Amino acid sequence: MHNPYAQALDFLVDAGVTNALMDEPNNRYEISSNRVMEAQVEIQSKKMDSSLRQNDDKSANNKNTIQPHADIIKQANDLAASAKTLDDLKSAIQNFDGLSLKKTATQIVFADGNPDAKIMVIGEAPGADEDRQGKPFVGVSGQLLDKIFDCINLNRGDSLYISNILNWRPPGNRTPTKEEMDIAHPFIKRHIELINPDMLVLCGGIAAQTLFQSKESISRLRGKTHDYDETIKAIATYHPAFLLRTPLQKKKVWQDMLMLKAHLHG
Ligand code: URA
Repeated sequence: MHNPYAQALDFLVDAGVTNALMDEPNNRYEISSNRVMEAQVEIQSKKMDSSLRQNDDKSANNKNTIQPHADIIKQANDLAASAKTLDDLKSAIQNFDGLSLKKTATQIVFADGNPDAKIMVIGEAPGADEDRQGKPFVGVSGQLLDKIFDCINLNRGDSLYISNILNWRPPGNRTPTKEEMDIAHPFIKRHIELINPDMLVLCGGIAAQTLFQSKESISRLRGKTHDYDETIKAIATYHPAFLLRTPLQKKKVWQDMLMLKAHLHG
């Protein structure tokens, strides 16, 4: 006799499902329901107090707004700042428990390429191939990325250093949440400081928005040179995974690469 549950599982495995996950990302940093209730009660009683006193100064209530990520971000900032070398930073990321992605990923995906390179390429987050191999951009998008840079004679063996904003694969390759990017931000900032490249190449909207702290779309952020800080320039370009879906946009990336080349040659 056939077991219908086993049959259903076989069907899912045949269809390529590799992770048992929910459709929507689960934000585990959200304050617990008890704390939400406590906070609501507190805010409510403050509101009543203030209305009794006929005080409609809204800023009084704003002071009670709970920032559940503030502690985690502070912890990330402190850990990142204490890293004096790339090995320290890698260990700090590995020991940091503030990102639940660590629990579902196979291993850390820290970086690849030459740490002395003048160009640091930064993507969004590792995918399944990267998670398996422990190196960034080694799957199909990585192969396209290599070909793009090869066209202007740059490669990860020598002239590029490659990393991602997130060092852990989001389960099922889902898009990282804004909270996850905010929490990872101190680590990639420190990573950039330690590499100290001349130029950053940010692949995709999420990487560019996180590092430029901008809400602009990638189509607005690309096509020009930015000052990341006083000494490091940056360009943003379309993510290779987007190019695989939308090959017509390759000509824009080609323009960005020519801009990068012109910059490198003064
Ligand atoms: N996409 C990314 O942004 N980074 C990788 O490492 C792989 C795919």
